[in-house]
Amino acid sequence: MSLRDRLAAEIAAGGPISVAQFMARCLHDPQDGYYATRPALGPEGDFITAPLVSQMFGELIGVWAVACWQALGEPAALRLVEMGPGDGTLMSDLLRAARMAPAFVAAADTWLVETSPPLREKQRRLLGDRVRWAASLDEVPGGAPLILVANELLDCLPARQFVRTATGWAEQVVGLDAEGQLTFGLANAPQLPFPDAPEGAVWEQSAAQESLGRALAARIVQDGGAALLIDYGRDRPGFGDTLQALLRHEKVDPLEGPGEADITVHADFPAVLDAAQAEGARTAILTQGEFLARLGIGERAEALVRARPDKSAVLGRQLNRLVAADQMGELFKAGVIHSPGWTPPAFEAE
Ligand SMILES: C[S@@+](CC[C@H](N)C(=O)[O-])C[C@H]1O[C@@H](n2cnc3c(N)ncnc32)[C@H](O)[C@@H]1O
Repeated sequence: MSLRDRLAAEIAAGGPISVAQFMARCLHDPQDGYYATRPALGPEGDFITAPLVSQMFGELIGVWAVACWQALGEPAALRLVEMGPGDGTLMSDLLRAARMAPAFVAAADTWLVETSPPLREKQRRLLGDRVRWAASLDEVPGGAPLILVANELLDCLPARQFVRTATGWAEQVVGLDAEGQLTFGLANAPQLPFPDAPEGAVWEQSAAQESLGRALAARIVQDGGAALLIDYGRDRPGFGDTLQALLRHEKVDPLEGPGEADITVHADFPAVLDAAQAEGARTAILTQGEFLARLGIGERAEALVRARPDKSAVLGRQLNRLVAADQMGELFKAGVIHSPGWTPPAFEAE
């Protein structure tokens, strides 16, 4: 039975499910979930991410990680972690750039936190025994400072959606129409503290994103270090329906073929960073364009062009895609959660 049919049977028996429950099943259902069975990243797949746009992205994050380690006093042991590493490209580029600091490479005990069996296999092929795997942050040992990176992980952590109706707030749920097809509907919900929101406004709330913010902060307050979260999303609270399904680079109806497409919501940086601060961590946020500019992406692109003048046009396009305001530069944000007493490179106040 397809995931669509199984969900329809479960809803017929037990009633509508939240958008968060629907997202979690679409992504992680062991039989048919997108990441569990058929993740397809890259130009030939369903969507493209910054590390796949250009090697410069992972390399600069490598430079950032080394600079963090230096700012932390070059500890002899360090937990270097990537969450949601996709096909492993970012970590591969990061480790190549980090070779400039052999003592960093020697100190780094490197972990990938990954839930997807097919992606773990890709990562294993690319990275071999340079890394170890964990299914959650809890499985990564503590006791040493943490430098963690996660690109486009928050957006696949499920969110509930609430809609302002003429009579108050309702929760958007996935139910069945008269023909037994999946459809969006509304269910009773507690009233949200926004009495002036216009009718039709959508408020998204991701317990999973907030809980990751708390878990990272608790670890970092205990052991020291920093977590860099890069994703498309908001840097201030706001309304908006951001649920999106992508199949072969095209937006599709999220209710069509559950599990066949990647399904995401925007990262809710204000909620994630507030949750981290409540645990005693410090936080900061920049646009991706500003973050990469401060790390020297312009100079890095120029150096690559000097080495390969024949690649000048391609490198120019890659740079533009990563930093231009109308490309990934402004929609994508770089948020950092860090221990008190220092500020990670690039996030210092200007
Ligand atoms: C959109 S992909 C991004 C991949 C990669 N970071 C990149 O930028 O190319 C999301 C990644 O997060 C992983 N993932 C999804 N949910 C996860 C979870 N709850 N815990 C850890 N990894 C998760 C996916 O399997 C995949 O590796």
